[in-house]
Amino acid sequence: MTNPFSFSGTVADRGFCNRKQEQKDIIDFINNSENVLLHANRRMGKTSLIYRILSKLDKSITHLYVDLYGTVSENDFIETLMKNAGQLESRSEKLLKTAKEIFTSSNISLSIDPVTNLPSLTPVFGTSKKTLLLENAMLLLERYSEKNRMVIVFDEFQEIENYSGGEFEKRLRGFVQKHDRISYIFAGSRQHILAHMFNSKGKAFYKLAHSYPLSEIEETDYMKWIKKLFAKKSKISDTIILEVLNLCERHPMYIQQFFYHLWDSDLNKPNIIDRTLRLILLRNRNEYMNIWDSLTLNQRKTLKLIAANDGNELYSADSLKSVSLTTPSQVTKALQSLTNKDIVQKNGTFRIQDVMFKQWVLRL
Ligand SMILES: Nc1ncnc2c1ncn2[C@@H]1O[C@H](COP(=O)(O)OP(=O)(O)OP(=O)(O)O)[C@@H](O)[C@H]1O
Ligand SMILES: [Mg+2]
Repeated sequence: MTNPFSFSGTVADRGFCNRKQEQKDIIDFINNSENVLLHANRRMGKTSLIYRILSKLDKSITHLYVDLYGTVSENDFIETLMKNAGQLESRSEKLLKTAKEIFTSSNISLSIDPVTNLPSLTPVFGTSKKTLLLENAMLLLERYSEKNRMVIVFDEFQEIENYSGGEFEKRLRGFVQKHDRISYIFAGSRQHILAHMFNSKGKAFYKLAHSYPLSEIEETDYMKWIKKLFAKKSKISDTIILEVLNLCERHPMYIQQFFYHLWDSDLNKPNIIDRTLRLILLRNRNEYMNIWDSLTLNQRKTLKLIAANDGNELYSADSLKSVSLTTPSQVTKALQSLTNKDIVQKNGTFRIQDVMFKQWVLRL
């Protein structure tokens, strides 16, 4: 029997647990052509949820999913967007004809994506005015939205902050605002960057989208889902499930990883959860060591303090002494850097974002 749990890539079908309310909320936004900022920490299930939603949309809504990860410039943005244009129109001649009505014929070409078998457009960055290609690409989207209402997903949207200055953001905003038959979903995990982009008055994307933080899946939903998947193999006790949910702080990827390993284990073995935890920490050791090695001594001390105190009492004399720090300002400075690196997050108290990294730090 194949293992139903999976912790690499996105999940669908039986591997996808609940998120019914989130699907409903976001589909409502899409049906009303509203823009959404979907944000959550790494590996919380943003992309899986988006795929799920796109597969459930009314067929009269055209969708375009664009992953901006790794793009570093406006040209990359346009290239990635146009590479995916086959999602708008699967008939290549038709797509090229429409594209050529907008772009001049010398600055766009057509090919077939060998993976998806869909047509793909490639812009040619040459002599044309720098701002023109973005204008053309956005006009192509607008043209398609005149036929069918659309949803366009920009996953890993924080990448655009790395492009040159705020000028690109301003121009992009102009198009997004104008497209009233398109619902834009901006998704990403670098929450302090996204918050800055969408919540700061001076920024181009200020209040341009409904903020939708993706929270943890409910305990009862996890319970039902895990039991159902396990039922094909063996019975699993509520106690084991609850212990794993707590240890993983309900983080979906680590829960999947835990149950992936538990699926092939004898659940009656003593300390089975602790053994599995140690296995997971060992598998992730290199990644955690890379993070640890990149930190200053005071940042390491502060991380140890957060892990040990669960984010509480970080500035008390006893706390400082427990990790050999001397002044509260050392903690403040380290917290600032750790937040900028997305290792730590302030949510009431300071927390280490990656719950298994926290377990690893606790064991140092
Ligand atoms: N609804 C869900 N039910 C069960 N597991 C899930 C669910 N959503 C996500 N996961 C688990 O989390 C992992 C990461 O999912 P996904 O790639 O969708 O997250 P993400 O937030 O887009 O991650 P990233 O920040 O890396 O882009 C999946 O491999 C899966 O193990
Ligand atoms: Mg993702």
